[in-house]
Amino acid sequence: MNRHERPVRNRLNGDVLWYKDAVIYQLHVKSFFDADGDGVGDFKGLTQKLDYIASLGVNTIWLLPFYPSPRRDDGYDISDYRGISSQYGDIDDFQAFVDAAHGLGIRVVVELVVNHTSDEHPWFQRARRAPAGSPERDYYVWSDTDDKFAETRIIFVDTEKSNWSWDPVAKAYYWHRFYSHQPDLNYRNPEVVEELLDTMRFWLDKGVDGFRLDAIPHLVEREHTDNENLPETHALLKHIRKKLERKHPDVILLAEANLWQQEAREYFGEGDECHMAFHFPLMPRMFMAIAKESAKPIKTILRQTLSIPDECQWAIFLRNHDELTLEMVTEAERNFLWETYAADKRARLNLGIRRRLSPLMGQDRRRIELLHMLLLSLPGSPVLYYGDEIGMGDNIDLGDRDGVRTPMQWSDRENAGFSQAAPPKLALPVITDPQFSYAAINVAEQDDDPHSLLNWIRQTLRLRAEHAAFGRGSMRFLKTDNDSVLAYLRECRDDIILCAANLSKTSQAVRIDLPDMQGLVPVELTGETMFPAIGRQRYSLTFQPYAYFWFKLTNNGAATS
Ligand code: NOJ
Repeated sequence: MNRHERPVRNRLNGDVLWYKDAVIYQLHVKSFFDADGDGVGDFKGLTQKLDYIASLGVNTIWLLPFYPSPRRDDGYDISDYRGISSQYGDIDDFQAFVDAAHGLGIRVVVELVVNHTSDEHPWFQRARRAPAGSPERDYYVWSDTDDKFAETRIIFVDTEKSNWSWDPVAKAYYWHRFYSHQPDLNYRNPEVVEELLDTMRFWLDKGVDGFRLDAIPHLVEREHTDNENLPETHALLKHIRKKLERKHPDVILLAEANLWQQEAREYFGEGDECHMAFHFPLMPRMFMAIAKESAKPIKTILRQTLSIPDECQWAIFLRNHDELTLEMVTEAERNFLWETYAADKRARLNLGIRRRLSPLMGQDRRRIELLHMLLLSLPGSPVLYYGDEIGMGDNIDLGDRDGVRTPMQWSDRENAGFSQAAPPKLALPVITDPQFSYAAINVAEQDDDPHSLLNWIRQTLRLRAEHAAFGRGSMRFLKTDNDSVLAYLRECRDDIILCAANLSKTSQAVRIDLPDMQGLVPVELTGETMFPAIGRQRYSLTFQPYAYFWFKLTNNGAATS
């Protein structure tokens, strides 16, 4: 049965631009909820927890890889693109989950690792045994020497010494941009392109609403280049978009392209490549802004990325399942951020920091809220990482990036209420260190507390959802006389929101230039408190440390026209 035939109680709105208003919740099936008690989260468990996800006020779920995989890169090493890892359930469980999510008005974006497979994928096993030059061998990128493509950087600098690895069966080197067990697919081979399209159609028939395309700058290679962002890669994305969109005009492609803003922007094409792209350079600059108590890092980077094709949208984020990557900063900035947020060197991985949001902020509620206010009001669709809504901690003693992928903390019961299995059977251990232990930090506890971070996030997402300006509005930075205060307007027709945030650890006063807003009355959104009308002078505000405001600008308390 395909997506159009299934009798689904589908509460999705039919808007093809739905992703502009998306609030995305990113999660790992493995770590969310274990329904069958084997210690590993599963689709049945996730489906049971959909009401919780809906209660947050998010409207889109992004699933980390759930495909069969040897899991040497936690599923980013796929061995079958059309299956479900047996630990997570089966295809019927997946279907039931998608249908239930749609029934609640929640869309589902799935991870698709397009650049590489696992070396256990049957394509690779076939390729290494096939004769050199054969169509089967040609699914991957081979060379007789390991000095080809010498201009290409290594990404996993802590583990890999070369992008080539020797395969004793093929008696040749194969190309890999990530771990050596992740051979890169050869997109110069049209059969590989067709395989990818077939994979996408397979999941579209199950009803998925979009694909996060992993590592797309590296899709196509060419000699004497750095093998990133080649025109051939862009041509391939345009081709994929064209092929999919006729039948599925509401399906999105979300680019994972960890690049400087000008290059990342190119993944929108002329509105004919990806619908969305992660804004990697903005992320570290939000952390930089509060560390330096200055609005400049955010303003500078955003000014360069405000103009994108009308139908495209940035995906903005604070944390995710990877290390907080510091690739898109200068070396001096990286050292500063490392010193500030990862003084303990065990927290550093590759060019980043493997910590969750709350530990990064020293569990300081004011800074956690402030960062969320930025995330939820700067241009783009925000992505929230599971567990950060309750201020979960991490475990830097676990290997690789596992420390930020531990089980969701549902309650103070055994295994944090995540699973009924014996603790050693858990996919990853729950957090038990006293400061972040599940005994203290869990959903049940925060559900009951009107002042909890969880309930604050719910309330803030509700407010955001009432204003089209956040997802769809224009963005204008406002001049102030205080560099510690970031002030900007988000405007969508008569919905005008003034956002102002004190990035400093001390109290601040500011005067904001609002030349064309004279006579309007700011109404603070959370309490609906009217503030003094905007007059001829610059508008004055005072702030506690790390405080913020969202104001609706009204005609004397009523909506503007
Ligand atoms: C980016 C993903 O976010 C990361 O988790 C993964 O290890 C690499 N791509 C390789 O697939």
